[in-house]
Amino acid sequence: MKKTLRYLAGVAGPSGYGSNSTAEQVTQQDCSFLLPSSQAQLTALVTGATSGIGTETARVLAKRGARVVIPARDLKKAAEVKESIQKETPEAEIILLEIDLSSFASVKRFCSEFLSLGLPLNILINNAGKFSQELEFSEDKIEMTFATNYLGHFLLTELLLEKMIETAANSGIEGRIINVSSLIHNWVKSDSFCFSKMLNPNNYNGTRAYAQSKLANILHAKEMARHLKARNARVTINAVHPGIVKTGIIRDHKGFITDSVFFLASKLLKTTSQGASTSCYVALSPKTQGVSGKYFADCNESNCSTLANDESQAHMLWKQTRALIHRRLHLSVVP
Ligand SMILES: NC(=O)c1ccc[n+]([C@@H]2O[C@H](COP(=O)([O-])OP(=O)(O)OC[C@H]3O[C@@H](n4cnc5c(N)ncnc54)[C@H](OP(=O)(O)O)[C@@H]3O)[C@@H](O)[C@H]2O)c1
Repeated sequence: MKKTLRYLAGVAGPSGYGSNSTAEQVTQQDCSFLLPSSQAQLTALVTGATSGIGTETARVLAKRGARVVIPARDLKKAAEVKESIQKETPEAEIILLEIDLSSFASVKRFCSEFLSLGLPLNILINNAGKFSQELEFSEDKIEMTFATNYLGHFLLTELLLEKMIETAANSGIEGRIINVSSLIHNWVKSDSFCFSKMLNPNNYNGTRAYAQSKLANILHAKEMARHLKARNARVTINAVHPGIVKTGIIRDHKGFITDSVFFLASKLLKTTSQGASTSCYVALSPKTQGVSGKYFADCNESNCSTLANDESQAHMLWKQTRALIHRRLHLSVVP
């Protein structure tokens, strides 16, 4: 109750920001080192920037002086986003490349293309998300939500990690990875969180599949944070809940969250700019320096579910995912 009231009132937490804070506000004072006049221009990659929270995240990062890479499956839509960002920030450098996160081959192709540009990489925001009402399979014959939201981002992170570690070492600027998750990860029960069933469910439920993929995003961040720490890499990884924003992904929940529920819950909805604030805060704030393996909501560290904090679950999921990717792509992965 107290938490809901704080949320509704937009009371600021220890970071100085709260549920009402916008992406522009949380990046206004904190990131002077990012301004174009600074020598070290940051390069940020934002998935899912062709709509909703991702578009706003890309816009604000570009406004703050970062070079922004937008991987998109629809390059026409991406070109429109680029145009609108450059209308506001004419000097913004925006790079568009094709990706379909639900396809291992496409993610691999994208990474080769990006790496061949020889650019640094400071920030990776794994933001793209999909909600599938009906059971659909990716070209790799994996359930579409899990393939897109979790596996595609896992592989993307894997293939870009050495570049991020190298960039951080050369620039002296901490690299940051952000997995955009959701509060809905709380709904997942441990007995339904089974890797083989998530790849190929026999009794499909769209909301459950979506929640499982969002739990996997947090477990990924937590396990990878432990690996990065063990390697002494100057790269952090955290998960965020952006808040509830009426974007494309919510509109896909037809029948589950109806318009009437939305009407009643309208006080809880965030604007897109408020929805992009937690990703932008974790990506740019000096206050999150060295913070890794955590879960953020409303621009503050927050609690995730017991299952999301379960180290053995995170480790098992990590091993199963790597083994799958290894098998499918014949990649040589370091255990
Ligand atoms: N909105 C909310 O209330 C809410 C709440 C909690 C968490 N989230 C999370 O926030 C993130 C952003 O969601 P949003 O609300 O901004 O949703 P959105 O407006 O539907 O945007 C989703 C983005 O993901 C991209 N995408 C989907 N499938 C893809 C694929 N196979 N390959 C490449 N890109 C793909 C979409 O590209 P196209 O333009 O090509 O479709 C779009 O750019 C998601 O991770 C979502 O789970 C949202």
